[in-house]
Amino acid sequence: MSKKRLGYVLGALLAVSFAGAAQGGIDMKDPNVSHHDRESIRKGAEHFAQYCMGCHSVEYLRYDRVAEDTGMGEEWIEDKLIFDDDIEHHEQMISPMDPEDGENWFGIEPPDLSMTTRVHGEDWVYTFLHAYFKDEDAAVGFDNWIQEGTSMPHVLAHLQGTPKPVHDDDGNLVDIEVSGDGEMSRREYEAMTAELTAFLAYAAEPIRADRERMGIWVILFLLVMTTVFYLLYKEYWRELKKQ
Ligand code: HEC
Repeated sequence: MSKKRLGYVLGALLAVSFAGAAQGGIDMKDPNVSHHDRESIRKGAEHFAQYCMGCHSVEYLRYDRVAEDTGMGEEWIEDKLIFDDDIEHHEQMISPMDPEDGENWFGIEPPDLSMTTRVHGEDWVYTFLHAYFKDEDAAVGFDNWIQEGTSMPHVLAHLQGTPKPVHDDDGNLVDIEVSGDGEMSRREYEAMTAELTAFLAYAAEPIRADRERMGIWVILFLLVMTTVFYLLYKEYWRELKKQ
């Protein structure tokens, strides 16, 4: 391929990736989630139980599985994940909210979030939690830049502080400014929402970390076997040539 054509192709690829990065005018933010970071997943599970499970389930996960995968024990489940004595450790992480109530209160049943990072991507989920802005006309007091007209209240507003919309001269939303009246600093809020995203990414594929670890062993095994077969092959030929 000539240099000029290569330039066109690269240019086109860049344009496509930028178009993908900006959705609904907002810049997508990257939470830098690692599937091996058990500490982040553990903290994310704790935030999830505290702030999200009132409405959302992650029905493919069981409490004891999360504890096992994050290196935690029974006590941790009791302290941080389960707030109801009737729930057993092997049960699925199901919200106590009656789906019908959810629909009546929010106009839509809060969706199960097991697959949400698969459906939207990790960047989307993280950005969603940074895309709320104050809107007096919205039923829930806030609108969301990435999911306009969202039915989900800004449940982390007391931690983040009030996010105020910034408009240009034509009235288009161009930025969100957070006033420092929340319980968390900007950095703390970023860390917390990244941990929540890490937990949801783990929920979408709990065996991913295991699979990647296994992958390394499989490749090593194949390398060893290839060497053994190669040596065998040479040995056979030497014998054959002798005859
Ligand atoms: C008070 C109830 C409530 C709580 C608490 C809540 N949500 Fe929601 N959430 C909703 C509702 C309702 C929707 C559906 C919004 C819509 O489609 O308009 C939603 C939608 C979402 C979506 C988008 C899912 C999709 O596929 O479109 C994500 C992601 C999400 N919530 C994450 C969270 C996280 C993370 C927390 C905890 C920090 C949380 N939610 C806490 C009610 C809640």
